[in-house]
Amino acid sequence: MTRLELIRALPKAELHVHIEGTFEPELMFEIAQRNQIAIPYKSVEEVKQAYNFHNLQSFLDIYYAGANVLIVEQDFYDLAWAYFEKCHADHVTHTEMFFDPQTHTDRGVAFATVINGLQRACDDANSKLGISSHLIMCFLRHLTEQAAFETLEQALPFKDQIIAVGLDSSEVGHPPSKFAGVFAKAREYGFLAVAHAGEEGPAEYVWQALDLLQVNRIDHGVRSEEDPELMQRLIVEKMPLTVCPLSNLKLCVVDDMAQHNIRRLLQQGVHVTVNSDDPSYFGGYMNDNFIAIAEALDLSNDELKQLAKNSFDAAFISATEKQKWAAKIDALV
Ligand code: ADE
Ligand code: ZN
Repeated sequence: MTRLELIRALPKAELHVHIEGTFEPELMFEIAQRNQIAIPYKSVEEVKQAYNFHNLQSFLDIYYAGANVLIVEQDFYDLAWAYFEKCHADHVTHTEMFFDPQTHTDRGVAFATVINGLQRACDDANSKLGISSHLIMCFLRHLTEQAAFETLEQALPFKDQIIAVGLDSSEVGHPPSKFAGVFAKAREYGFLAVAHAGEEGPAEYVWQALDLLQVNRIDHGVRSEEDPELMQRLIVEKMPLTVCPLSNLKLCVVDDMAQHNIRRLLQQGVHVTVNSDDPSYFGGYMNDNFIAIAEALDLSNDELKQLAKNSFDAAFISATEKQKWAAKIDALV
């Protein structure tokens, strides 16, 4: 099998995707029109031209503005369903999607509206496309810990539909330590935990996510390489990093894909996975991310298979499921 054929054939799990970041401009226009909400662009082309970022914040400003057109349950369903169709095309068979409740509840959209729309799409993806999924609720770290506590309380009636809590938005200046209390409470309630750390922020934030938030996975974490002691810990604990190559390129975390450290991390024994983050904004879904690193870093077929196996191994699924997918990946030649 050629490298490209293998990438397409590999079953993959996606562990780092913001559902609001899958919002394609075409659907954004359609929903804006439906809800009679004005958006500051005349055409899809004009929207795409605005997707020129120089750091995380320059992206977040546009990403939050886009989410403003989502109002009713069907909007959240349509958003998630469009993403599941991309998963189907890329042979992503399991996905764990982030959503940002505060982006919606702060505009007066009910928590139930958001989660009911997403959950209905998850159910349909399972029955119609055979794709399994989980939802991860992220706290916005530029807001207060008190606001995160309030969001956690709002989530409790839907606890069975949310596998974990996460932490996203503007990283620098908003360390994981700010959210130690709310993560402790969430874990007490039985949620698993993940957090963005070491994307733009320093390796110190990764230590904090591990020690203070007690996360099960680190989202991004690419700056961990700057701290040899941290690298040792990640390797020994087999702590997954959900790496997002095209995101890192678009947000100038790396200057050039050939300089991306995912292959070095893999070779050193870090449990790295490949993910799309905000695919509509960063130029590609799962397979585009695989292709970009495979070409820029000249990855072997064995390395690609290892990355796909890691994705299921790091997923919040049973050991039996993990073994099932590993066997399918091993069988590909
Ligand atoms: N929200 C959506 N995408 C994000 C990213 N890459 N980092 C932090 N917050 C985000
Ligand atoms: Zn992210």
